Amino acid sequence: MCGIVGYIGKEDASEIIISGLQRLEYRGYDSAGIAIVSNGVIERRRSEGKLINLSGSLHVDPIIGHTGIGHTRWATHGRPTEFNAHPHVDNTSSIAVVHNGIIENYMSLKEDLKADGYKFVSQTDTEVLAHLMADEMSKDGDMAAAMRGALKRVEGAYAIGVVHKDRPDVLLAGRKDSPLIIGLGDGENFIASDVPAILPYTRSIIYLDDEEIAVLTKDNVEIFNLDGDRIEKPVEHIEWNPVLAEKSGYDHFMLKEIFEQPQVIRNTIGGRTDEENAQIYLEEIGLTDGEIKNIETIYIVACGTAYYSGCVGKYLLEKLARVHVDVDLASEFRYREPMVNERTLVIVISQSGETADTLAALREAKKRGAKVIGIVNVKGSSIAREVDGALYIHAGPEIGVASTKAYMAMLIALMLLSIQFGRIRELIEAPEARRLIRKLKGLPSKIEEILDNIEAIKDIADRYSEFRDFLYLGRGVNFPTAMEGALKLKEISYIHAEAYAAGEMKHGPIALIDRRMPVVAIATRSATYEKIISNIQEVIAREGMVIAVATTGDVNITSYSKDVMYVPDTDELLSPMIVVVPLQLLAYYVAVNRGSDVDQPRNLAKSVTVE
Ligand code: AGP
Repeated sequence: MCGIVGYIGKEDASEIIISGLQRLEYRGYDSAGIAIVSNGVIERRRSEGKLINLSGSLHVDPIIGHTGIGHTRWATHGRPTEFNAHPHVDNTSSIAVVHNGIIENYMSLKEDLKADGYKFVSQTDTEVLAHLMADEMSKDGDMAAAMRGALKRVEGAYAIGVVHKDRPDVLLAGRKDSPLIIGLGDGENFIASDVPAILPYTRSIIYLDDEEIAVLTKDNVEIFNLDGDRIEKPVEHIEWNPVLAEKSGYDHFMLKEIFEQPQVIRNTIGGRTDEENAQIYLEEIGLTDGEIKNIETIYIVACGTAYYSGCVGKYLLEKLARVHVDVDLASEFRYREPMVNERTLVIVISQSGETADTLAALREAKKRGAKVIGIVNVKGSSIAREVDGALYIHAGPEIGVASTKAYMAMLIALMLLSIQFGRIRELIEAPEARRLIRKLKGLPSKIEEILDNIEAIKDIADRYSEFRDFLYLGRGVNFPTAMEGALKLKEISYIHAEAYAAGEMKHGPIALIDRRMPVVAIATRSATYEKIISNIQEVIAREGMVIAVATTGDVNITSYSKDVMYVPDTDELLSPMIVVVPLQLLAYYVAVNRGSDVDQPRNLAKSVTVE
């Protein structure tokens, strides 16, 4: 995820900004930049790669000034080059802007601004903000009024910082859906994406809320809504120690990333849906409508959690696009001489984009004549560079070895792809597409409901942390969810856990059932709900213990299981995105109870770049 730091005060702005960005490096980035108001001009410096490149340049040729903004960029729109690095400026270099988020309507804004004579030099969505500010300032010289006007024209997520060459006494900030904080100092004030950046200077923080802007001088901070009404905000005092701060107050990156999932879903959806026209825009995969109509078979190929996302993808694509899908472990696909031809589409899925088996499978598929697209998180990764088209999931860097938010983003990407393929293959009418898009956009708030009520899950974890074996059961689109839940538990708590299609239990695993092996059963509202209830009855008839995942309001389930993790209702096809969250939390709290190294589990690597 991008990092933002801004400063206004009496000290050397560039030194404070660079050190702040260094404390945000854990967020991951691929370029960096800074803009300082210095003697009536905007002095800007940007560099590809790591901050050391930028700080080295500033060491050789320092910029003097007391007001400025800085940015570390995790590339979303446009390659990680110096030209695309923030800050971006308007055509007169009077205004500099840094931004974290996605401007969903940036293409239409860019066309309008170009028609008004504004010239663009980058591939980014962010540059639109610099020209919007210039356009608004041409109407009203007031910077705050211009920012309000600009942000009213923007759709999407933003955390932004703005400076003007003629106003060294003012630093502006604004946010919607991307976090931004204000730090209050003595004769100095700060903006930042996250607490660690400014913790050495102040523990007094104001958290900006959506559609709020802040006007900072070195001695004062005022907050307004987009209508210009002044808002009083509480000042929070941060108690964290610096190490904890990197995790934004969470005990582990894994827990932080579980809680980031609502925002990640919004970022993955980004500007890719058009509810009004019932369309999904995925130009980046580089498939023509004719090619999509001509697909005879899809292979989804991946490893680990990415493989389980592909197993969910099979249900989504076969249901919505009526195309045959095989899901393969990359380590198997690469050696089994797969039946691939020019009417085969291979989809490789990888968070890191560097998994050796998946990369090898991609090369094998291309060698055999298949079109290959990638669902990838890390921009510019080997897999992202070698596929014919990359669908980026915009999950931001995933630090915890056990994948959570990237898995969620993969599921969202697969759902977007399934709706788009279904529309292009004329199998989904517009009203159904609109319904699915609305349901997809409703997921973040449903997941927030779960995240706001995690005590019941913690209690269950406390009661089951000492067991040595678990069985996970699921049906249909949640059979892969059961597999992912079992993987989460085993990889961070080191407890043996296996998953089965619930209908398969009587063909062997039922012999395992007794009081020493808890059974996690996914029993949310679905076409096969009665079937899973029967399976649960088979378990308790043999003194098995059932931990159920059920739909909020289902009182029937308590007749069969005293331990229930409730989740909000949603469309069955979208239930994997909901159901996986309590399974992630269950695994996390069991692992914490057992004292595992949750973020760096034994024997595991975040990216398996060897066979
Ligand atoms: C998942 O929690 C694990 N970290 C692991 O199974 C991972 O999903 C797998 O190694 C694939 O990694 P990739 O998505 O980076 O290709």
